[in-house]
Amino acid sequence: MFVKIDNVSKTYKQSGEILQALQNVNLEIEKSEFISLIGPSGCGKTTLLNILAGFESVFDGHVHIGGKEVTKSHSPGVTIFQNYGLLPWRTIRKNVELGLEAKKTFSQREIHSISDEYLELVGLTSFAKHYPHQLSGGMRQRAAIASALAVNPEIIFMDEPLGALDAFARMQIQDEILRIWQKHKTTVVFITHDIDEAIYLSDRIVVMSPRPGKIQEIINIYINRPRQRNLPEFLDLRAKILEILHFAKKLQQPDFYL
Ligand SMILES: Nc1ncnc2c1ncn2[C@@H]1O[C@H](COP(=O)(O)OP(=O)(O)OP(=O)(O)O)[C@@H](O)[C@H]1O
Ligand SMILES: [Mg+2]
Repeated sequence: MFVKIDNVSKTYKQSGEILQALQNVNLEIEKSEFISLIGPSGCGKTTLLNILAGFESVFDGHVHIGGKEVTKSHSPGVTIFQNYGLLPWRTIRKNVELGLEAKKTFSQREIHSISDEYLELVGLTSFAKHYPHQLSGGMRQRAAIASALAVNPEIIFMDEPLGALDAFARMQIQDEILRIWQKHKTTVVFITHDIDEAIYLSDRIVVMSPRPGKIQEIINIYINRPRQRNLPEFLDLRAKILEILHFAKKLQQPDFYL
């Protein structure tokens, strides 16, 4: 198993109060699998992702990726955040090259040819010399994806990466993400609040419930890709997930919303 999340619990101390953000989370993810985490606000999705990405090292339980325990100094993944994580003072090309420079294993020439390849992959070749503020939100998102992929990570973590986009740009980038994922066979852990997006993209959807954050249910999506959003099987899954989420919500305090 590529990712093994073994009995992970996490508590935060907040002004004297203890908040259990995650309780006994167990999950295994196969190599090249596309997994979405979905659940009400505050159910611990970002917390779990931060633990997987090695950003959060104080927790109970164990996380292994590729057979190695994830620690602050070791995580094989890269993360794409909602704010794209692009540096405003670097051009798009320079942003894509950032992770490659940090690796210190490539010559300048190699770095240039790798960034060429990934800029092309996301359709931004002619914007290589632009700065992030000169691009649309969708283009910035594609640039962030290119810079994450350029370092050839084994696993990519995405925390609501498409939240800021309009519906059309969102669908377009969903297709782009799928295309890139299928080409590179990268393992993806993807957080979203959008049920359709989760069904459209994922092999499995992990539905979480809050306080304490737990896995409520795991749903396999067997529909062949490319998926049609208006097919009965798609709509059935949507109804099923909505029902689970309502159930999860009912168990909780009333201040949770989707
Ligand atoms: N650094 C922190 N200190 C204290 N409490 C925290 C911290 N980070 C998260 N929490 C709490 O842990 C719980 C889970 O937060 P988390 O950000 O993981 O939720 P989420 O599922 O990502 O929510 P959203 O969908 O709104 O992004 C929340 O109740 C939150 O208030
Ligand atoms: Mg979050």
